[in-house]
Amino acid sequence: MPEFTFRHFLYLCSMNGQAKVPSGFHGIVKWQSPSNIALVKYWGKKGVQLPQNPSISFTLSQCRTETSVTFEAAENFSLRFYFEGNENQAFAAKIEKFLLDHVADFPWLNQMSLNMESNNTFPHSSGIASSASSMSALVLCLLDIDRMLKGEAEIDLKKASCLARIASGSASRSVFPMMALWGKTDTLATSSDEYAVSLENQMNPIFKTYCDSILIVSDAAKLVSSRAGHSLMENNPYAAARYAQANRNIENLLAALRDGDLETFIEITESEAMQLHALMMCSTPSFILMKPNTLNIISEIRRFRETTQIPLCFTLDAGPNVHLLYPKQYADAVETFIDENLVRYCTDSKWIKDCVGNGPQKLMVMDAG
Ligand code: DP6
Repeated sequence: MPEFTFRHFLYLCSMNGQAKVPSGFHGIVKWQSPSNIALVKYWGKKGVQLPQNPSISFTLSQCRTETSVTFEAAENFSLRFYFEGNENQAFAAKIEKFLLDHVADFPWLNQMSLNMESNNTFPHSSGIASSASSMSALVLCLLDIDRMLKGEAEIDLKKASCLARIASGSASRSVFPMMALWGKTDTLATSSDEYAVSLENQMNPIFKTYCDSILIVSDAAKLVSSRAGHSLMENNPYAAARYAQANRNIENLLAALRDGDLETFIEITESEAMQLHALMMCSTPSFILMKPNTLNIISEIRRFRETTQIPLCFTLDAGPNVHLLYPKQYADAVETFIDENLVRYCTDSKWIKDCVGNGPQKLMVMDAG
């Protein structure tokens, strides 16, 4: 148990039922949090950011956001947000809206001045979705400030995942190392639509060695935002069949993850990627998010797998870039294959080397006052 100090007493007790931030309270928190790549896709939502079906992802390692929040007790709430060194008022407004919707979770907000700085380790124009890493990093910083004020030792990761989910659904999964599942499934008693849960203890060790080589077919801005994409599912004629299929895929993928069954892993992972894109194609309006080179890479991967028997497979996000997934023991062979056969399909020969990672990391916490 952390020591319960006079400061915590001041915070918790109040004249009018409202928490009071001690004057002079200030400091800095800094977290890095990774992006993730979904194997079973979250595509379609209901209610307040609840998923229509459960999803599973690998937590990545190299594609991360680093966020620091400098905080200081103040008369009123104020917020400044800097992205890669430049003040970004549009993003500050988005964060402010998110925070003010959650005053109940952060009762100190209206007595705090916050200065946020955020940097991605991956290039802005690489087509890597940054909302998962950025929103989870931000929520972890805020919960750290909350933890200090309450005098608690640890952040509650379930709460972090829940708040991150509200900011961006996929961010709920980035809070956990290795692999996470978000969404209620009968196959996993601890699962919930409200937050993600760790799958670290459900994985055959081979999956902890997985690499994700991300081939950048195009670095252009997204054709359709995730938010708009999810809402297209509301009128998609195949929606009910999709959600049923995703539930079956979750059940079978969980079994494959436990058993180290790479054949089933490949079958489900590739089918999920194709379904995501098929759903976009048959939405109204319809979107084609693949490029000719996406298809060229997919054909090459299938040919390579057939001729070498190396268990390399692919997945896609809601865009044209291709994620190559494979156990680390095949890294040399796959990287040679990429260099010799696939970089020609990448924009400026760009690809990113990533792998399954250990989840968010606290980089700095200093408080005073
Ligand atoms: C295709 O989490 O970006 O990457 O909740 O609206 O922020 P919002 O959407 P977002 O959707 C991710 C969709 C996906 C699949 C996935 O990550 O599961």
